[in-house]
Amino acid sequence: MQKRPKPDPRSFIGAGKVEDLKEDIYEHSADLVILDGELTPAQQRNLERLLEVKVIDRTALVLDIFARRAHTKEGRLQVELAQMTYLLPRLTGRGIWLSRLGGGIGTRGPGETKLEVDRRRIRRRITDLRREIAGISRHRALQRQARREAQFPVVALVGYTNAGKSTLLNALTDAGVFVEDKLFATLDPTIRKVMLPNQRAVLLVDTVGFISRLPTQLVVAFRATLEEVTEADLLVHVVDASHAAWRAQIAAVNTVLKELDAADKPVVYAINKIDRLPTPRARDLASEVGEGVPISALQKVGLINLLRRIAQQLPEPLERVKLLVPYKQARTVSEIFGWGRIISQEYGEQGITVEAELPHVHAERLRALYNGADLK
Ligand code: GTP
Repeated sequence: MQKRPKPDPRSFIGAGKVEDLKEDIYEHSADLVILDGELTPAQQRNLERLLEVKVIDRTALVLDIFARRAHTKEGRLQVELAQMTYLLPRLTGRGIWLSRLGGGIGTRGPGETKLEVDRRRIRRRITDLRREIAGISRHRALQRQARREAQFPVVALVGYTNAGKSTLLNALTDAGVFVEDKLFATLDPTIRKVMLPNQRAVLLVDTVGFISRLPTQLVVAFRATLEEVTEADLLVHVVDASHAAWRAQIAAVNTVLKELDAADKPVVYAINKIDRLPTPRARDLASEVGEGVPISALQKVGLINLLRRIAQQLPEPLERVKLLVPYKQARTVSEIFGWGRIISQEYGEQGITVEAELPHVHAERLRALYNGADLK
């Protein structure tokens, strides 16, 4: 630990700290130093030179863990993109030598350095990865559209890594989701259909585990996955109540949600792992976060309560209507704006033809009033 107003521009930690660290390295025969911060490429190089061991920063570590845990094609592509973006500026000045090896005709000009070749390869790979991920993103958007048309509301499970999201998804659906006591077990969203106690079906989407200070490269790479959160109708925020830092973890997740512009979505807090706590403590904790539902995903306790709360909090489904509103009732159109979403409006001879999505009560009333044709 070091307290400084700001990191040393050359070596991140101060010169004295570098000396201390050298001793620690010697004493423990360490061969790797991990710094819990983001190092500039120059700082990393300087530290490696001074300490004579490999030095990585927080971002590199997180990327490494994500890389190990990625278990679908999409996850792997996203992690690789993040890794490449991280690597590119770090190639600078490293191992510059004129290479006679590698590269066929047209891949490099005479006198081109190994570094330039490497950089060019990485840039090309980044372009390819972006293209592939964009394809997946489009595919996802289509899937989301299909889901919307099927009128299933989407509930996204969010939470700090290791909070128990996959276990919960499993418990609720018995779907064979990959569950492991390791960080970031979930890199790819998994979607399952679940029936709520009020007989309303929802789609439950598992998302990537959040962490505090999520490296920028990862946020960018995981945008496609995180779009599921942005587009969800409701979020279930899973909290590991047995973790000493549960408050800080909730705050970290909420910060990421804010970055995703998803902070104002309806949220149900699932206060998980209560099997590890005495009952009164679990109850206190649940009320502290504001109507949290105490559960144990592992022991399948409290799940019905959770589903009930989801059903209560879920915004009403919207129904499509097409109405012909006479001009003297034009005020209705502005009211529709407040109740739901207007898809189109056309001004005709007899009035305004409005196509809109509205909660059931309003849809029914307006249909009766304006004799609108139902849309299939
Ligand atoms: P990421 O994919 O990393 O975001 O993790 P996750 O939030 O999906 O967590 P996961 O479901 O993989 O669970 C993490 C660990 O917590 C596993 O070892 C689970 O068995 C354990 N766990 C989950 N729910 C409970 C619970 O209710 N009680 C207890 N005691 N352990 C639980």
